[in-house]
Amino acid sequence: MAIQRPKGTQDLLPGTVEQWQYLEDTIRNVCREFGYEEIRTPMFEATELFQRGVGQTTDIVKKEMYTFLDKGDRSMTLRPEMTASVCRAYVEDKLYGQPQPVKLYYVGPMFRYERPQSGRYRQFHQFGVEVLGADQPLVDAEVISLVWNLYKRLGLVGLEVHVNSVGCPTCRAEHRKRLQEFLDERQSELCSDCQERFERNPLRILDCKNPSCQTLTAGAPTTKDTLCEECSTHFEGVLALLGAAGVVYRVNPRLVRGLDYYTKTAFEVMVEEIGAQSAICGGGRYDGLVEEIGGSPTPGIGFAMGIERVLAALQVQNKLPEQKPKLFAMFIALGEKAQNKAFSLLCELRDQGIPVGMDLLGRSLKAQLKAADRQNARFALILGEAELEKNVLLIRDLTIGEQTEVSLDKSLQEINKKYQRGV
Ligand code: HAM
Repeated sequence: MAIQRPKGTQDLLPGTVEQWQYLEDTIRNVCREFGYEEIRTPMFEATELFQRGVGQTTDIVKKEMYTFLDKGDRSMTLRPEMTASVCRAYVEDKLYGQPQPVKLYYVGPMFRYERPQSGRYRQFHQFGVEVLGADQPLVDAEVISLVWNLYKRLGLVGLEVHVNSVGCPTCRAEHRKRLQEFLDERQSELCSDCQERFERNPLRILDCKNPSCQTLTAGAPTTKDTLCEECSTHFEGVLALLGAAGVVYRVNPRLVRGLDYYTKTAFEVMVEEIGAQSAICGGGRYDGLVEEIGGSPTPGIGFAMGIERVLAALQVQNKLPEQKPKLFAMFIALGEKAQNKAFSLLCELRDQGIPVGMDLLGRSLKAQLKAADRQNARFALILGEAELEKNVLLIRDLTIGEQTEVSLDKSLQEINKKYQRGV
């Protein structure tokens, strides 16, 4: 039996890859304009990094990690996210010694053992940014406005930006207590996941998608009720700046994120049209994370967006650009002599950086013309025995069907001229 790719993974084939490249190019442009630099970290890390960073009680660490022992008996994990890795690099590579804040971005594959479904994969890709070394509301607003700017540039509409403050460890402890008191009598009516969450991470109950849990928690105390003065001033500062930046947002006091490291600002962006997995971006501040993994106390904030989900939104909203022609011209050579001559012209044009191709299968004229069409080539460059004898090349414009004859000696110049003019 033929071997199949693992469940929850994808092969990205030509035709689709171009869409990824378009999105990645747009991302890189926006990051450059905002002054963010790229970081690349290993695809796997010591398991302890995620246990300590993401948190022992989270679904990611409890159920979703691809963890294995390497041949030296060390526990390793394929990265389920990159914030912990970036913080590790900040400490290990002494990025704290550089001018602060350090503004980084990344694009790459992440791995989570989740139940695959539309928009949810086991290997998926994230674009994310992390800013380390700055605690002002201005940074929170800059990070969120970067997301907003990117979506605007991509032409996406109907996005919902949800913002909240989950507070600092002090206000969170108070929220946790009040929430447990509120839910205490209703504990048995919660779904089995939430019953488990009650002790280890009750805040996540607010985020449960189960309709009966949502009804039960309808009047539950939210983070808003328990924010300390510092957290609440910070949050108001962020909201004012988001307004100034023209970001359309909604304060959602029930927004709690699925990773343990968040403090103060948390946010998510949703696009309902792409189905149940509608979160295309999530992030927030994590002022305790660098210290948690062994560095000095350093504030941080960032987000990650699912590339697959952004592409799904672009697809649904018909915002993906048309595919560009693959080749400018295709040589159509008939007979060995003509083929040799065509190949030498082809090499010269390629040296000049002009995307040209030729038939590699020795096919008939008709089949070669069809192939040129499939390649979306603008011109067919036809060279048969008769043309060779006359020392000419036929240049056929495949969009208008017109054909001109040029002398072989001038043909390179002629093709180059057309290419430079964009015809
Ligand atoms: P996250 O919410 O776990 O946050 O993931 C961020 C985004 O990655 C999600 O909103 C979603 O678009 C995408 N995503 C997550 N899991 C999958 C999956 N199985 N299949 C497809 N897409 C998925 C983080 O990862 C944090 N590190 C974000 C962050 C950065 N917070 C601060 N800095």
